[in-house]
Amino acid sequence: MTELNLILLGPPGAGKGTQAERLVSDFGLPYYATGDILRAAVKEESELGQEARAYMDRGDLVPDDLICRVVVERVDSPEARDGFLLDGFPRTIPQADTLAEALENLDRRLTATLLIDVSDEEVIRRLSGRRVCKEKGHTYHLIFDPPKNEGFCDQDGSPLVQRDDDREETVRHRLKVFHDQTKPLIEHYEKRGLLRRFDGSRSPDEVHGHIRATLATLRLEEEL
Ligand code: AP5
Ligand code: MG
Repeated sequence: MTELNLILLGPPGAGKGTQAERLVSDFGLPYYATGDILRAAVKEESELGQEARAYMDRGDLVPDDLICRVVVERVDSPEARDGFLLDGFPRTIPQADTLAEALENLDRRLTATLLIDVSDEEVIRRLSGRRVCKEKGHTYHLIFDPPKNEGFCDQDGSPLVQRDDDREETVRHRLKVFHDQTKPLIEHYEKRGLLRRFDGSRSPDEVHGHIRATLATLRLEEEL
């Protein structure tokens, strides 16, 4: 089987985590979401969490060197030998360069960067209604994807809460950070022929179907 080395790119609230859950179940890829890794570190009060916390609360990016170390270690681990799914990394050009260098050292290359595109208005709508479970971070939306029992996770029964950085003012700042620092990655990967775009305003199942179809085509092309 050919390697699937994938990046999920998109603004806050685009549905990266929502699609990742489906793709992990399709392809069994190890999944590295830098936001989730950082939130776990904050909860544990580890050294990484203590350094990252203030940046995250403001909606700013944590420094590149801090997050690059974490990701390179994982991409280089035995479980990621046959592929990986990155969510929320890279987010800056220096992060993309670090990843490219790490893969080159391992004699591997990216399969594709999957861009999930949604408007700023849709981001605000989605993040103001997002609720996550306290235990594992399973994600819901008050209107678009409500849990069966109001206020509790369908999967593990733990209470649903709002993420600290999902207050509207912080979401607006995260959007600005995306436009200023992360959007240049779109052109970066487009120039390298690695970008695949998806209309994130469609339903989660439709977006998933489009991504699966694209990945199937990419794999067929690789095998030819
Ligand atoms: P991170 O956790 O990565 O946050 P983000 O990129 O802002 O993205 P989100 O997780 O908010 O959104 P998502 O795209 O996963 O959407 P979701 O599927 O949940 O990063 C958090 C912070 O960590 C950053 O601000 C930064 O400080 C730091 N950080 C992380 N990585 C870093 C890096 N590489 N460098 C530096 N700093 C870093 O969906 C959102 C909502 O919409 C949900 O309620 C969902 O149910 C709903 N929904 C999803 N899809 C649809 C759909 N198609 N239709 C309707 N509703 C939908
Ligand atoms: Mg996410």
